[in-house]
Amino acid sequence: MAPIRPRRSVLYMPGANDRALEKARSLAADALILDLEDSVAPEAKDEAREKVVAAVRKGGYGRREVVIRPNALETAWGTADILAAASAAPDAILVPKVQRAGDIISAAKILKSVNVPEKTKLWAMMETPQAILHAAEIAAVGADPENRLVCLVMGTNDLLKESRARALHDRFAVVPWLALTVVAARGYGLDIIDGVYNDFRDETGFRKECEQGRTLGMDGKTLIHPSQVAPCNEIFAPTDEEITWSIKIIRTFDEPENVHKGVITVDGKMVERLHLVQAKRTVAIAGAIKEIEDWF
Ligand code: COA
Ligand code: MG
Repeated sequence: MAPIRPRRSVLYMPGANDRALEKARSLAADALILDLEDSVAPEAKDEAREKVVAAVRKGGYGRREVVIRPNALETAWGTADILAAASAAPDAILVPKVQRAGDIISAAKILKSVNVPEKTKLWAMMETPQAILHAAEIAAVGADPENRLVCLVMGTNDLLKESRARALHDRFAVVPWLALTVVAARGYGLDIIDGVYNDFRDETGFRKECEQGRTLGMDGKTLIHPSQVAPCNEIFAPTDEEITWSIKIIRTFDEPENVHKGVITVDGKMVERLHLVQAKRTVAIAGAIKEIEDWF
């Protein structure tokens, strides 16, 4: 199994924006997406590609995961983008506008053909109606390590545009797509990151949406502005209460009289072995978060 990796806060930055690429080296986001796609104007595409490759090669991003988002292969820039991204060997390449499993398999084949090290994984943008319809099929390619797929990223702005739904009422229209894609991700052992919150000056609304994403099972949220990093890291980390409860479950199951039991009582509540699995994950992710935070 892949090592546990905190992906609470995943910050996008336009590849053409020097200041953002530089500033990102000091931001406490768990992952950074250096974008060549929709946040870069057509006339700035070539320049952005060069800047992003240079920034990744220069490094200095420490323990943050660095991800490059190229344009789709069908576009005029797609092939040059993915080859340039591959040459920089980031932690991952985020495939945009995925429609079918074949889009991931094709990207994986390109990476293999140019001998990109295995540490460079693929993430998939889930942002087209086709991707939601084929979520299980897309996630399933992650079962074969050759395909490098480890993470799905919700593209809610594109989904709203394509579906003509509205972003209102606690994302009433979006929630079913999020929930379905969470299940697809979990069915094949992938991580999944929620979409962005556009109104970046509204911290109250942002926090509410983070809570909603976490409740749905998201591992984290994609972000557009540095001010969103701290609240996001807080909300997507296990709370002290959750950690204490998890440790209690682990310790109680470890007691000699419980070692062979399938179900026990802790603080008056029924606890099964499935809760033990959950508890171990909570403690492991809390440990991984502590490591990354100690590093910052
Ligand atoms: N990543 C890194 N740094 C960022 C950033 C980002 N996404 N967004 C803003 N910053 C930096 C700015 O460069 C500025 O730095 P400085 O003050 O140290 O020079 C600081 O944070 C404050 O920025 P602010 O003035 O509040 O924002 P802005 O008006 O410059 O930019 C946006 C607002 C929305 C245009 C900008 O945040 C952005 O481009 N976000 C990402 C958009 C994106 O990538 N979209 C694609 C996926 S949906
Ligand atoms: Mg998009």
